[in-house]
Amino acid sequence: MEMKSIIEKKRDGYALTKEEIQFIIKGCVDGTMPEYQLAAFLMAVYFRGLNKEETAELTLAMADSGEMLDLSAIFGMKVDKHSTGGVGDKTTLVLAPMLAACGLPVAKMSGRGLGHTGGTIDKLESIPGFVTNMSREQFISQVNEIGIALAGQTENLVPADKKIYALRDVTGTVEQMSLIATSIMSKKLASGSDIILLDVKAGSGAFMKEETDAIALGQEMVEIGLMADKETIAIVTDMDQPLGYAVGNALEIRETIEALKGNGPEDLLELCYVFGAYLLVAAKCEESLEAARIRLIQTIKSGDALKKFVQWVEMQGGNPLVVENYNLLPKASIVMDLISESTGFVERIQCEMIGKVCQKLGGGRVTKEDSINLSVGVVLHKKVGDRLEEGDVLATLYGDDLDHMKEAKDMLFSAYHLSKTPVTKRKLVRWIISKNGVEKY
Ligand code: URA
Repeated sequence: MEMKSIIEKKRDGYALTKEEIQFIIKGCVDGTMPEYQLAAFLMAVYFRGLNKEETAELTLAMADSGEMLDLSAIFGMKVDKHSTGGVGDKTTLVLAPMLAACGLPVAKMSGRGLGHTGGTIDKLESIPGFVTNMSREQFISQVNEIGIALAGQTENLVPADKKIYALRDVTGTVEQMSLIATSIMSKKLASGSDIILLDVKAGSGAFMKEETDAIALGQEMVEIGLMADKETIAIVTDMDQPLGYAVGNALEIRETIEALKGNGPEDLLELCYVFGAYLLVAAKCEESLEAARIRLIQTIKSGDALKKFVQWVEMQGGNPLVVENYNLLPKASIVMDLISESTGFVERIQCEMIGKVCQKLGGGRVTKEDSINLSVGVVLHKKVGDRLEEGDVLATLYGDDLDHMKEAKDMLFSAYHLSKTPVTKRKLVRWIISKNGVEKY
């Protein structure tokens, strides 16, 4: 077998065999395949696509390219929830303790933020002392002890994706649907959970700007999951404005703790109730979505989810006192308000721009190697549909560098689009994709 004819075959629109796909992944991981051939292959896929069988084979070959986590030593069903990436998305941080408080173990590997999107690992690391590097043994014993563990992806988890993703990033091939689906699902399959819930974001702050593309991506990923015998549910949700109000690592931890104390924000809690309900039913912990929702709400009302969060922070070396004292979190030195210059309603918020504002303040990476400032970010005070008067505070910026803050303020201002007439609130949860097909929520 040789790579040149495989590239030509894909270039000419033919389907590849399982053996050819395995040959590509082997060459990619053992270093025998030159990067220019892999790049040419990715471009051929970009234009010709992959059929269902090729997508499935590529995902399996990628998942198998490194360590496959064996979580069978964890008692009961294990669930994983994954977001395709958004702005202000701290759902995992609220949902994981809620589920653990319901007795459903959460064993999750997360990533860091890149570009305008945030990452759960960075958010957790803004809690002083919190460690996300864990051995497999520690990870498993922690899930068995408290029902929850969250770690950074190990070096050897899907090495093929690391190589392919880096090449896609520099060859203009990131946006190919099957490549996104194989990238995400290979990591989910290698991470060993029994049930996978995929939050597929749609809108100006997401990978998928169009809802129809988000649905198609959800369908591809669910098909891959089912083919690999994993219960997989994809939920298409709105990312046309940030989730909650806070965007920025330490600021989002604060909002997470407030949510666990029952103080909202409403959209964040709603997403947790919806995702949690589907997971509890899929894991057979509850018979109906309605009953599951009531149980999840109870974990907030009773304080059990907050207690679980405290236990989790403590187990991973973090300072649990942050829950009572937000001054223990990293704090920006400059605070600046953005004031509305007119009266009206928020019609639209360019969500990607809000992520870029956070990046400009130093809270996001341009390349994977960048270090970030965990204290900086934005807190919005007005979201789509909200009424505002001239002179109202639209948002507050938190930063450490005045020049960057001035630029960020202009960017933030340009992200807000106002209307003179009332605007309806955005629908948060749009579509449910599962073995039963695509259903409107
Ligand atoms: N997230 C991933 O892990 N891979 C992609 O290709 C896109 C989003």
